[in-house]
Amino acid sequence: MQNIIIEGGKLLNGTINISGAKNSVVALIPIGLLASQKAIIKNVPNISDTKSLLNILKRLNCNYTYQNEELIMETSEIKNNFIPAIESQKLRASYYFMGVLLAKFNYVKMSVPGGCKIGKRPIDLHLKGFKALNADIIEKKDYIIIKSDKLIGNNINLDFPSVGATINLMIAATSAEGTTTINNAACEPEIENIAEFLNNLGADITGAGTKKITIVGPTRYHNGAITTIPDRIEAGTYIILGALIGNNLKIKGIVKDHISSLLLKLKEMRVPFKIHNDEIIISKLSNLSPIDIISQPYPGFPTDLGQPITVLLSQCNGISHYKETIWENRNGHVPYLNKMNADITIKNNTLMITGPKNLIGQEVVSTDLRGGAALILAGLIAQGKTKIKEIEHILRGYEDIVEKLQKVGAKINIVEIE
Ligand code: UD1
Repeated sequence: MQNIIIEGGKLLNGTINISGAKNSVVALIPIGLLASQKAIIKNVPNISDTKSLLNILKRLNCNYTYQNEELIMETSEIKNNFIPAIESQKLRASYYFMGVLLAKFNYVKMSVPGGCKIGKRPIDLHLKGFKALNADIIEKKDYIIIKSDKLIGNNINLDFPSVGATINLMIAATSAEGTTTINNAACEPEIENIAEFLNNLGADITGAGTKKITIVGPTRYHNGAITTIPDRIEAGTYIILGALIGNNLKIKGIVKDHISSLLLKLKEMRVPFKIHNDEIIISKLSNLSPIDIISQPYPGFPTDLGQPITVLLSQCNGISHYKETIWENRNGHVPYLNKMNADITIKNNTLMITGPKNLIGQEVVSTDLRGGAALILAGLIAQGKTKIKEIEHILRGYEDIVEKLQKVGAKINIVEIE
């Protein structure tokens, strides 16, 4: 077991480089299995979600090499083996093996996926979509079977623009005969990156990144390659950190369009920053204006930055509100921020944050990935020592977070405990 220990209050200066996007790569890796013999994925972040997916590749008899952020997958001997709970429940995104194995073999049997405990997290939209593509679903207590004699294209209207359902149905539809349209599709940048990889492997997908995606199948897959886009949530987390305690902190490898909703909110708070090409330089300002934020599907304010930005709102001069609309239970960080002297109350999934409050180092627990990141930000601005427990959640999604922060002057360490 490991803890993170932080001595707070050090101004941060230097450069943080952004890694490949977790939420892209968790789909790109399963999709690589569709290649006829070989798939190459570049800019693959070395996070524990990647390791969990590589273990599943082994189970499916996929040989690979993973070096210098490049993953080369040999796919000619893939076996459609059962994926057990111990592997699928390490991350919710293991559900992409459903779409991929259904597309490749017309059959998948796997245990249902896991992930952070931030809400009910059903997969009904995925399953309804697979059914619309002429698949049958058999749900058992511990596993699910999805099978089809022949996948057939269809018109699918998503009740909600679910990121995972959009991607899974896009994948499955590449093997369906005829045309599939996904209406009310999610528009996140990761979806474009994933569609590009599928197209590089031979698929015919248009409209990814818009509300209507069209897929013409069936695809004759060949070999292909892709580069993972930069992680906009990792970038956003470090940009928020720059606003909290940066002294000309440079974040390199950003895509400005992908983080525009965050940048607009920072402007509203009067945070000073400069952008040049793929870099942003950002500094702390002591008199921040309080603001209101509502999470929305892309291009709205991302739910995944809701927890990190709570820490910045705790430093604003007055009352701010953060309303979470995507997940039911994304408040695991709140009691711990309050323990550190923040003033946050929760009503109907809306946080009321009264600032500014000087945070004080405490022993806290990371309850989920982005909540854990928020506690790191809080520890870095707090007076004294913060100990964060259960950091495995954080390591699922932030590559080399401790090393990156040490490089810009933070006093932060991982310590092994019994
Ligand atoms: C993805 C991201 C996650 C992000 C979320 C919303 C990955 C690996 N994870 O998660 O970081 O927080 O998008 O931007 O990309 N829903 C249903 N039925 C379904 C599917 C979803 O009701 O079948 C609901 C969920 O419970 C949730 C909402 O729709 O309330 C959003 O879920 P979705 O967009 O699917 O999130 P994920 O793809 O799981």
